[in-house]
Amino acid sequence: MDPPPESIVARPGVELRRERVGDADAIAAGVASCRPDLAAWLPWATDDRAVDPEHQRARLAEAAQRWDDGTEFVYVIVVDDRVVGCMGLHPRVGPGGIEIGYWLRSDHTGHGVVTACAGALTAAVVALPGVDRVEIHCDLANARSAAVPRRLGYRLARLEPTPVTEAGPAGAETGRSMIWVWPPERAG
Ligand SMILES: CC(C)(COP(=O)(O)OP(=O)(O)OC[C@H]1O[C@@H](n2cnc3c(N)ncnc32)[C@H](O)[C@@H]1OP(=O)(O)O)[C@@H](O)C(=O)NCCC(=O)NCCS
Repeated sequence: MDPPPESIVARPGVELRRERVGDADAIAAGVASCRPDLAAWLPWATDDRAVDPEHQRARLAEAAQRWDDGTEFVYVIVVDDRVVGCMGLHPRVGPGGIEIGYWLRSDHTGHGVVTACAGALTAAVVALPGVDRVEIHCDLANARSAAVPRRLGYRLARLEPTPVTEAGPAGAETGRSMIWVWPPERAG
């Protein structure tokens, strides 16, 4: 697929920007600041390496390659010039589809930051040639995450067993995922 924009202003003071190796310290510190909250739902956060800046630097170098290859596009969420989370575009949900994933530092939740970013990113990617569907997947019990697509008008299309990753299930996962789809009128 064509690459999405490298930066998107979601609302004044809130921006998505293509992540870069120089974000490693801020990402590692962000994960460390609220690791139990993230590890409840994100298997990668159960791994101690997630809070290691060196590990993040290596991961970010690989992520830059994936962006250039067109296989995955991950942004940092920037609020008032500070990196406070990440939002990714993952072309892993079949032809024409792309999945949005996200996490936010707990000290920045409750202000609509992720909803604004996911809304802006949805609008940007459905405008790309070859993309006809955006999905957000979240565990059946992850009410805060599900509230994001619900607030944006996504449709809850179905429930599915959650694929098990190398890192294993996250702490609070039920093993069943909600699949939210944009545009809501799209079949399937
Ligand atoms: C999922 C997660 C990103 C949601 O964060 P969040 O802060 O609830 O989401 P938003 O940034 O969109 O903020 C929405 C909240 O701000 C409030 N809000 C304030 N101003 C708002 C505005 N202008 N627009 C929308 N919501 C606003 C909403 O009412 C809501 O608060 P509430 O839950 O108390 O009702 C966050 O909890 C997280 O990172 N969790 C751990 C990782 C995770 O689960 N990732 C997803 C895996 S599928």
